[in-house]
This record gives sequence, structure tokens and C-alpha cells, in this order.
Amino acid sequence: MEFSALIVAAGSGSRMGSDVPKQFQMLGGKEVLVHAVDALLPHPAIEAVHVVIAADQEDTARAVLGDKAVNLVIGGATRSDSVRNGLAAVKTSHVLIHDAARPFCPEAVIDRLVAAMETHDAATPMLRSVDTLARPSGETLGDAVDRDTVVRIQTPQAFRSDVIRKAYDGYDGAPTDEARVAAAAGIDVALVEGDEMLDKITTPGDFSRAEAIAGQVLIPRTGMGFDVHQFAGDGPVMLGGIAVPYEKGLSGHSDADVLLHAITDALLGAVSLGDIGLHFPPSDPKWKGADSEQFLAHAANLVRDMGAIIDSVDATLICEAPKVGPHRTAMQENIARILGLVPGRVSVKATTTEKLGFTGRGEGIACQAVANVRMK
Ligand code: CTP
Ligand code: MG
Repeated sequence: MEFSALIVAAGSGSRMGSDVPKQFQMLGGKEVLVHAVDALLPHPAIEAVHVVIAADQEDTARAVLGDKAVNLVIGGATRSDSVRNGLAAVKTSHVLIHDAARPFCPEAVIDRLVAAMETHDAATPMLRSVDTLARPSGETLGDAVDRDTVVRIQTPQAFRSDVIRKAYDGYDGAPTDEARVAAAAGIDVALVEGDEMLDKITTPGDFSRAEAIAGQVLIPRTGMGFDVHQFAGDGPVMLGGIAVPYEKGLSGHSDADVLLHAITDALLGAVSLGDIGLHFPPSDPKWKGADSEQFLAHAANLVRDMGAIIDSVDATLICEAPKVGPHRTAMQENIARILGLVPGRVSVKATTTEKLGFTGRGEGIACQAVANVRMK
């Protein structure tokens, strides 16, 4: 038996009510879809992974999946159209069909499905209900439903590829899973034990619960950064990516944005990845006059590549002049944009040193920054 995984991710997430479909939302440091892919891709029984996406999500999907060994297939108007399109790309004898909206798939569930396929042509994970069940009559309770007679069906579901293709060919309608399609074709669908970790994200409440699960394994870490640049030449000075008008400029190999440099160092420090000089050596002519936004964006990518979430950033500029206050909001918003954070998670403050020291004498600007992240 050789298995392919087919992960359907072509939905619009209308019940979540957000602009970005749920499968592309960040959950504990990576997108929901990436969680689903990472749960299936390494399993030894799985030879290939196909991800079914909407036609207008190809660029987004490629960006979030990076160089992962997955094949992209364009989906259709309903979930079952997406599955049909995906099945056409499957080349292995068996297939596991899974919702991208179920980010956490325990390896043990895949093991149980694979084992069930030794004796069956179809298998699905299920959970029994621990709650009392009823069939409502309008707005009132109605009849009791014996909870021992019903189960909750989850994905991934396993099939012999030819069997599920044939079952779909003879099926008219838009089912919400393939076990139903197989059963309608008269195929015995084996039930294996599911897992609550497989619960589907459908509503904002589900998303918050999934975030709590993803966050449980992440530990808060803090990084600090410090930088100084000397005044030289003509203004303006670049602070937080904003050109602040001033009679003098700052000297440095790059654009000398002391604020972005301090935050970059704080981020690198939070995940123990050295400092800005290590990643962007001043000796490298490539960085001469460089826009420091690329340093910060690179550091943020490194942090995320380590599976960490950036929670917040706080910085203090230390100088007598120029005045920071009028530009503070623009700086915060720009830094938040670079880091992909909401502006409320970035803080920029300023202080003088009461005319004491090099900043007090107006020789340059210093900056301190702190970054808070969570990672495994
Ligand atoms: N799906 C799909 N193609 C569609 C519709 C849904 O591939 N045309 C996928 C979704 O991306 C999701 C899975 O099927 O991974 C389960 O569907 P559901 O939870 O209903 O997701 P959405 O259809 O995106 O959400 P909603 O129904 O709230 O719009
Ligand atoms: Mg749907």
C-alpha cells in the first residue's frame, strides 16, 4: 500500500467571518494549512502530499508552503468539487483525504487508518459523544437521542484510490466528507478511534481554542537590542523607516536607522541567533546604504522560521533632538507593518539624558529595544 495525502484548502472560511481564509491564518507561529501539511508530510506511509487550493490563492499557498514537497491542485466551488479535482492528481494505490481546517493531526490516528486499510477499502476516524444528545423540536428540546448510537466523524479519511474515485463518479450531491460517499456506494467504512486534536476550525471560537492548544507548547522569550549612531552630514535621519527632518544626518554603513537596528538585534536575541553584525556584516559592501527595513524583515523571517511567534516590541530612542513625538505613530505603524503585527503591539518611546553624556551633547542617537516572542 502506498498513500498520498490530499489536503483540501480551497474554502473561503465564510463562517469564520475574516478576510483571510482560515487555512491561511497564523496559528501559533505558522499558518493553519502549514500545520496540517506538517502533520501529514513526515508520516512514513505517505509518499506524496497534494494540497487543493482556490485558483486565486496560488501565490499565497506557494508563499506559506515555501519549499515543502507538496503538489498544488486547483479546487472547485464546493468541498467535494475540490476533492474530485484532487483525486485526479493522486497516483498512489491509497489516499488519505483531509481538511486543511484541522491543523493538529496526531500520528497515531494516521497509524490506525493505515492499519484499517489492511482489511477495508475505506476508514474514518470517529469520536463518541460525551454530551447528552437530543433532536430538537423547533426551539424546544424534542426527543432524546441515545448517544451510544451516534458518532462524530473526522478527517483524515483513508480509501483505496480507485474505490473512492468510482464511488464519487456515481455520487450526486455535495457531501461534507468522503466516508459518506463510500458508504453510499455500498462500501464498508471501518471506524477507527479519532482524536479531539482533530476538531475542525469553523468559527472564531474554534480558532481561539486552536490558538490555546498551539500556544500551550510555546514558551515566552525576551531579547534586548542596543545601538548607537553618530551624527554626521546633513539630515534627515531615518528612524523606524521614517525620514525625520533634522539639520544633521546619522553616519553608518547602512541607512543608520538606529531604531530598526536595535529592534532587529532584540528579535535575533530573543531566539539566540546572534546579532545584526553577524547577519549583515558592515564589511560586506552589499549593505552599503542599505534600507534597514530589510534587516528587520530578515530577522522577523528567521524568528518565524524557528517556529516562534512575535508578540510585541518596545523601544526607547535616546537623544536631545530631533523630536520623536510627532513621528511616533508613523514609526510604530511602519515597524508593525514590517513585522506583520497589529500596531498596538509595537511601542516607540523617547527620552533625553538631561544633556549628559554623548547623547546629551548631541553627538548621536542611541536606542534600546526589547522583543517578546514565544517559541518551543
Ligand atoms: N474546502 C475546499 N473547497 C471548497 C470548500 C471547502 O477545499 N470549495 C475545504 C476547506 O478549505 C476546509 C475543508 O474543505 O479545509 C472543510 O470545509 P469548511 O470547514 O466548510 O471550510 P470553508 O468552506 O472554507 O468554510 P465555510 O464553510 O465556513 O465557508
Ligand atoms: Mg464549507
